[in-house]
Amino acid sequence: MNQNQEKPMEGHEYDGIQEFDNPLPGWWLLTFFGTIIFSFLYYLHYEVASGPNQEEQLKKSLAAIESLKKGGPALDDEKLLALFQSSSPDKGKSIYAAKCAACHGAQGEGLIGPNLTDTHFIHGGSPLAMYNVISNGVLDKGMPPWKDQLSFDDSVAVTAFVYKLKGTFAANGRPPQGTPEKTQ
Ligand code: HEC
Repeated sequence: MNQNQEKPMEGHEYDGIQEFDNPLPGWWLLTFFGTIIFSFLYYLHYEVASGPNQEEQLKKSLAAIESLKKGGPALDDEKLLALFQSSSPDKGKSIYAAKCAACHGAQGEGLIGPNLTDTHFIHGGSPLAMYNVISNGVLDKGMPPWKDQLSFDDSVAVTAFVYKLKGTFAANGRPPQGTPEKTQ
């Protein structure tokens, strides 16, 4: 007989098989009580508090799929700032010199297009606002759309470059146009 085993239980012997009354193993009890605690927290989160229910989760997933179909998750300022970090400043600079300087001036001081080195903007000075103007242009005002000429990476690189020009106040700049941006 195993040393660790307690006494066999009285009257619990069938066909030579004895039953013992050993305590349940610690790991088993831990798992058992763990599942009870988990079910309680689960209930609180999903039924009492505002955890997303299946319908909401489905809606969210479908929205994500829709946005993927439209060419990737929607951009926002935060995502663009992160992309700026990983884009090449030299690339942004050379695209600017080749495609933008003719209208916005070599330093961004403004020529046909507005001064990009002040803190006034017609369409907004946030990363997303700039990205959108650069991609879609303002046709009736003479700003061409660039989304078909530049790859996504190139658009991000040139937007990053222009975003950095903000507030550098190039010499002989065109007078400010648009509304002043709140200091960030
Ligand atoms: C043919 C001339 C021209 C070229 C080339 C051009 N722009 Fe513009 N850009 C303009 C004009 C004009 C506006 C003003 C639009 C308006 O008044 O709404 C403008 C507006 C902008 C604005 C918004 C400024 C604001 O105050 O909100 C940004 C940013 C900008 N351009 C960036 C660029 C970048 C980057 C490039 C190169 C990829 C570029 N532009 C190329 C003419 C040009």
